[in-house]
Amino acid sequence: MDFQGRTALVTGAARGIGRTIAEKLASGGANIIIVDVASPESAQTALDAVRAYGVKASYCCLDITNGEKVTEAVNGFIKEYGKIDILVNNAGITKDKLLMMMSESEFDAVINVNLKGTFIMTKALVRHMMKNRYGRIINMASVVGLMGNVGQANYSASKAGVIALTKTTAKEFAARGITCNAVAPGFIDTSMTAVLSEEAKKAMFDMIPMGRTGKPEDVANAVEFLASESSAYITGEVIKVDGGLYI
Ligand SMILES: NC(=O)c1ccc[n+]([C@@H]2O[C@H](COP(=O)([O-])OP(=O)(O)OC[C@H]3O[C@@H](n4cnc5c(N)ncnc54)[C@H](O)[C@@H]3O)[C@@H](O)[C@H]2O)c1
Repeated sequence: MDFQGRTALVTGAARGIGRTIAEKLASGGANIIIVDVASPESAQTALDAVRAYGVKASYCCLDITNGEKVTEAVNGFIKEYGKIDILVNNAGITKDKLLMMMSESEFDAVINVNLKGTFIMTKALVRHMMKNRYGRIINMASVVGLMGNVGQANYSASKAGVIALTKTTAKEFAARGITCNAVAPGFIDTSMTAVLSEEAKKAMFDMIPMGRTGKPEDVANAVEFLASESSAYITGEVIKVDGGLYI
């Protein structure tokens, strides 16, 4: 798809799904800003992969939960790039435990990054999108935000929150030419799922009608569509990318 003249900011793009999304948008000609907590050294491969498409790209080592730093950084990007058209709120973490064993700090940490971080990034960027009367915001949810999951009280609640935040953002900014949609992946092969026990992986795998786990590309394809002109009349939607896991 054609993203010439567009600039996209993708959070959590130093690796995994975010990196694949950044590469996908760059392949269509979008300039890319990668935001992640990873060290600049460990984000270098992702940055090189994006620059290989001949687009302008930057890496910003930033914690999306730090509102002050996010605002400062976003204002700097706007000065440097002129505008940001596409925001992909992809950064996320897990701290899985059965509810009875989960501490308040484990609950708070996941809500803070996955839900509050998405709010902070959106608030910092949407004011600039409003001025341009154009924006595409894509939030990374999860099917567990729709169906719940044993051992993920914090994570599933954060992703359900992301879905509600998506719908509210869609309603508040629709008249300003800004769309906001969510993608809800199922079980995707990344570092996040690599840490799961073989037993947990098998249990999840057995529930997928397509009989395979997803790839980061499967998710990036949905994000690409929602970031493009082809999705202009779609807002507040949640697209599941899960091989039929949750139907
Ligand atoms: N992998 C899956 O099966 C799956 C399924 C559903 C949803 N998701 C969601 O997709 C997104 C990407 O997941 P992934 O599998 O690529 O995970 P990942 O762990 O490989 O990548 C997440 C990235 O987010 C970054 N990050 C974490 N906290 C941050 C913070 N506070 N500020 C900035 N960056 C931060 C990490 O450094 C990392 O680079 C997440 O939101 C995740 O919840 C993943």
